[in-house]
Amino acid sequence: MKLPARILLLGSGELGKEFVISAKRLGCYVIACDSYSGAPAQQMADEHETLDMLDEDSLRHVVSKHRPDIIVPEIEAIRTEILNEFEDSGIQVVPSARAVNYTMNRDKIRDLVSVELGIRTASFGYAESLAECVDTASLIGYPVVMKPVMSSSGKGQSVVHSQSEIAKDWEYACSGMRGDRQRVIIEEFIDFEYEITLLTVCQKNGEVLFCAPIGHRQERGDYQESWQPTYMTGEALLQAQRIAEKVTSNLGGAGLFGVEMFIKGDEVIFSELSPRPHDTGMVTLISQNLSEFDLHARAVLGLPIPQLEIYGPSASHVVLANRHARQVAYEGIEEALKVPGVDIRVFGKPTARPYRRMAVCLARANTLEDARAKADSASKAVTIVYTD
Ligand SMILES: Nc1ncnc2c1ncn2[C@@H]1O[C@H](COP(=O)(O)OP(=O)(O)O)[C@@H](O)[C@H]1O
Ligand SMILES: [Mg+2]
Repeated sequence: MKLPARILLLGSGELGKEFVISAKRLGCYVIACDSYSGAPAQQMADEHETLDMLDEDSLRHVVSKHRPDIIVPEIEAIRTEILNEFEDSGIQVVPSARAVNYTMNRDKIRDLVSVELGIRTASFGYAESLAECVDTASLIGYPVVMKPVMSSSGKGQSVVHSQSEIAKDWEYACSGMRGDRQRVIIEEFIDFEYEITLLTVCQKNGEVLFCAPIGHRQERGDYQESWQPTYMTGEALLQAQRIAEKVTSNLGGAGLFGVEMFIKGDEVIFSELSPRPHDTGMVTLISQNLSEFDLHARAVLGLPIPQLEIYGPSASHVVLANRHARQVAYEGIEEALKVPGVDIRVFGKPTARPYRRMAVCLARANTLEDARAKADSASKAVTIVYTD
């Protein structure tokens, strides 16, 4: 690859923003796309485009206009079918068109991992109507988790405790669905001890690398805090790495993946994966010599990663908005940053809505408990000021 490369970034949220910073530090030229203008990554990029990324013609148009060497999808809501076409025309799709296609829909990746690769997952079934939900859920046994096959960040997802609740949860799933398929996955509820994200780096020339496992806590199916390294038994970590390597090597390509797994004792249960930096992986902005964004950039560009070092116990905690507003400002950042080892990333999102992630607080300390406490206090010190 001739450097610097021209990168077309599809999706310009906070993860895209950090990726742009990493790529630009390596001299790349970045064109950042999103459905609205002024999105976080667009603020960092050389050029930006505002388009509906579910629309094939709009995607073809920006690709032919900018002639990128590399297309880096940052979000799932992309018309992924045409990524094959771009790949066939010689553009590098990250990590690969196959990986993006498989992970866009929960059913496709789940069938691949569970049925074809024989990896342990929660028991599951699919449903396309309320009647099918009732049948599938009673086969699996309550409680079950219901999720639209196309959705992210917990949208449309719920835990169904009994048949009397299922109609309301099906309604909720239908309202949270992206795309045109009315289909849900119904999963056995796993009473896990803890869950992890294993950041897995697939290189063009070199072995698969693993970051230290990241622990996290979710609410409403959305990440609230993460910490690294999370303690795992040697046996569980080895199993997790084997699973991550098996799935990512099947999907193919170069880049960083976030592999989510549930842990019960020494048992590792695959949940899902992102073929790109993971939100819980924002902790690596403070924990490692190379963040997940730096690692993604290096892997994508085929650059060496000779050393991957974790500095010590670290944590991240999100700052969420709690209402709609057309403008936002922040107070308390000064307070948050007074504490040694604390840092913050304000995403620069122009507007707010309930639960929208606006910033993340980062912390490093001598113990995980202290790092988590510091990140938590920092997130509480920051106040969002809303303007209508
Ligand atoms: N089968 C399950 N059993 C128990 N908890 C689950 C299950 N599926 C999801 N969860 C919880 O919900 C969170 C979000 O679900 P996930 O499938 O990762 O959706 P998303 O794509 O929105 O991140 C998980 O991180 C986990 O905490
Ligand atoms: Mg997830």
